[in-house]
Amino acid sequence: MSSPKKQSKVPSRKRIAVIPGDGIGQEVIPQAVKVIRASGAAVELTDFDWGADRYLREGTTVPPDGFALLARDFDAILVGAFGDPRVKTNIHAKEILLGMRFKMDLYANVRPVRLLDAALCPLKGVEPKDVDFTVIRENTEGVYTDAGGVFKQGTPDEIATQEDINTRKGVERIIRYAFEYCRTHTKLDGAPRSKVLMCDKSNAMTHAGGLWQRVFKEVSGEYRQIAAEHKYVDALCMQMVRDPRQFDVIVTNNMFGDIITDLAAGLQGGLGMAASGNIHPGKTSMFEPVHGSAPPIAGKNVANPLGAILTAAMMLAHLGFVREAEKIEAAVLAAVREKKATHDVGGTLGTREAGEWVARKVSRE
Ligand code: NAI
Ligand code: MG
Repeated sequence: MSSPKKQSKVPSRKRIAVIPGDGIGQEVIPQAVKVIRASGAAVELTDFDWGADRYLREGTTVPPDGFALLARDFDAILVGAFGDPRVKTNIHAKEILLGMRFKMDLYANVRPVRLLDAALCPLKGVEPKDVDFTVIRENTEGVYTDAGGVFKQGTPDEIATQEDINTRKGVERIIRYAFEYCRTHTKLDGAPRSKVLMCDKSNAMTHAGGLWQRVFKEVSGEYRQIAAEHKYVDALCMQMVRDPRQFDVIVTNNMFGDIITDLAAGLQGGLGMAASGNIHPGKTSMFEPVHGSAPPIAGKNVANPLGAILTAAMMLAHLGFVREAEKIEAAVLAAVREKKATHDVGGTLGTREAGEWVARKVSRE
């Protein structure tokens, strides 16, 4: 809570670190920045050149104290993507992206899945109101912690292990986050959210799954007004394609969340449309489109900037600029409906032109 002294001050500008990164990140993030400026939100933007080019030039992935600087001097971080064919090990992506998630403890990866226009969904007869759910992915544990190792590498007896780390604290806070999200967020049409579904594979992965099951039961008991449901991840994938209408808030571990949100992106028009936030309530949080650096289409002015622009809206809403975020979302909706967008979503514009169209629309609102 802010102190009374703070509240009496004129709200200061929010400080945003902008890290476009690699590939199409360098094309879509400038469009998102253009739209943020057009929205009139009181923000101060600072560019960072972390990514493959800098790594190849200087050998630096994250400068010394880089994460401490972000946490201390910024209110939020807007990120593009990391991944470059010249860096075979992908070490910079790992150190920058997973570094931010893990070292800044951004434990909730929030991925809204919303269909803006029926034409974007590959399923028959599915309308925008039918696809409006959010996946809350645990972001700091699971199989992504790099625990494990190889033994007798390169021999016929080679052994590789990849440990799945699940802590009581980690599981409890992400499940609680999902219930709080459900309690405090409405659907796009204003209807309240009412269900949290926990997705795991506890029938086969009994140790980790058992912990998730016990914690889910316990935490759901504190939220009597919210329905608690469960599905195994394989069954969930099938249902997401058969009938996406049934989903509201889904909470799951790091790996299942990674996989099901690519599937979910398919329902909303592809990776170019999907936004996400990496959030720790009260700390500097990071926002990024779900897609990666897409090397095959990088540098060609064809990447869809709408996922990055929706990500910017999500970040502004998180920082309290709710009106500005709504203006941006409305402009993106108009761009999709009027096909003032890139080829992947049925338009004819380039990345820059699509970004400019949205920015102009936002500045006129
Ligand atoms: P990707 O998301 O970069 O691209 C897969 C395909 O989806 C692209 O080839 C393209 O056809 C399409 N696509 C993605 N974003 C698009 C957009 N905005 N507009 C139009 N089409 C779009 O995934 P991929 O190919 O698996 O990974 C490429 C690189 O990105 C790798 O180095 C990978 O490690 C990295 N990556 C980074 C992520 C991040 O920084 N958060 C997330 C996923 C991948
Ligand atoms: Mg992924």
